Amino acid sequence: MPKRAAPKDQRRFLAERLKELDCLYSIAKISNRKGLELDGVIRRMIRVIPGAWQYPAIAGARVELEGAEFRTRRYHPGPWVQQCPIIVQGAPVGAVAVSYAEERPFLREERSLINVIAQRLGEVIERKRSERRLAEYQEKLRSLAAELALSEERERRRIAQALHDRIGQVLALVHIRIGALMEAFPDPKLGRELAAVRELVSESIAETRSLTYDLSPPILYELGFEAALDWLAERMGQQYGVAVEIDADGKGAVLEQQWRAPLFSAVRELLVNVARHSGSTVARVRVRRNGGRIRVSVSDDGVGMEAGTGPKAAPEGFGLFSIRERLGSMGGEVAIASRRGKGTTVTLSVPVVRGERA
Ligand SMILES: Nc1ncnc2c1ncn2[C@@H]1O[C@H](COP(=O)(O)OP(=O)(O)O)[C@@H](O)[C@H]1O
Ligand SMILES: [Mg+2]
Repeated sequence: MPKRAAPKDQRRFLAERLKELDCLYSIAKISNRKGLELDGVIRRMIRVIPGAWQYPAIAGARVELEGAEFRTRRYHPGPWVQQCPIIVQGAPVGAVAVSYAEERPFLREERSLINVIAQRLGEVIERKRSERRLAEYQEKLRSLAAELALSEERERRRIAQALHDRIGQVLALVHIRIGALMEAFPDPKLGRELAAVRELVSESIAETRSLTYDLSPPILYELGFEAALDWLAERMGQQYGVAVEIDADGKGAVLEQQWRAPLFSAVRELLVNVARHSGSTVARVRVRRNGGRIRVSVSDDGVGMEAGTGPKAAPEGFGLFSIRERLGSMGGEVAIASRRGKGTTVTLSVPVVRGERA
C-alpha cells in the first residue's frame, strides 16, 4: 500500500524540530571549540540562534553579559522578545534574548531551546573563568618557582660564606693555638692528647670546606662552568659512587653569567637523580654549543622512565619541575628522552646571545 504523505503541519513541525537540533548542535560545537575567547563564543552563538526560531527572517538575537552587549543586526528591542537569564554559580550574570521585529507567537519548544542555550552559555562562562584562574595560578607558580630557585642560590652562597668566614676561620685559629700549646707544653702525654684534638679539628676544617663547596662551589664563580662540572663529577664519585664522564667541547665555558648557576644546579640535580633513581653507576654529561644555544645533556643507561605526561609517565617531582620552571622562565627548555630499561637522557637547552665568558 503506498504511504500517505505526512500532513502539512506535521511536516512543518518536523522541520522546526530539525532547525532546533541544528542550532543545538552548532551551539555545542561552538562551546567546545578550543582556543576561542568568550567574546568569540558569544558572537558565534548569536549568529546561529535566529535560524532556529520559527520566523528567522524577522528574528534577532542578543546576549547581555555583565554590562557588555552582543547582538545581531536584526535584534529588535521591543515587545516581541523572549529571554532567559544566564546563571553562573547560582547568580545571574546576564541574559540571552530572541526578538521578532513584528508580533509573532513564541513556541513552547523555543522556550526550552532558549533555556538550554542560556544554560550552555553559563557553563562556558564558568569554564572560561576557571581556565583563566588556572592560567593565573600557573603564571604565579612559575614566577614563584623561579624566585625560589634564585633565593635558594643566594641563601646557599650566604651560608657557604658564613661557614667559611665564621666557623672555618675559628677552626683554623683553634688549630694554630693547639700547635702553640703543644710547643709551649712539651709533655709527651699532653702532647698525645693535644695531637688527637688537633686531628679532630683538622677533620672539622676539611668537613667545613667540603660543605662550603657543596653549598656553593667557588670554582663555579672562579673558573667557570666546565671546571665546576669536573669538580662536580669528582664529588658525585665520592658521595654517590657514580662515575661521571664530562664530555665538553670547551665552548661551554663561554656561557653567559645568568645561566651559570641555574645550569650548574640543574646538572647537579640531574646527576643526583641518576644516583637515586636510575640504578646506574655511570653517567655522562655532554656540553655542546651551536646555533646560538648551549645544550647540556645528562645521560645514564639505567632503568629509565616513561617520558612525557602520559598516564605511565613518572610523576614529576620537585627536582624536574623546578628545573623546568627555572630554565623555562628564562627562555630555556628541558627535554626528557627515556624508555623503561633503556636509560634516560635529560637535555637542557638555553639560548646564548653574547659570548660572555663565565
Ligand atoms: N635518571 C632517572 N632514571 C630513572 N628515573 C628517573 C630519573 N630521573 C628522574 N626519575 C624519575 O622521575 C621522578 C621525578 O624526579 P624529580 O623531579 O627529580 O623528583 P625526585 O628526585 O624528588 O623524586 C623520580 O622520582 C623518578 O621516578
Ligand atoms: Mg630529583
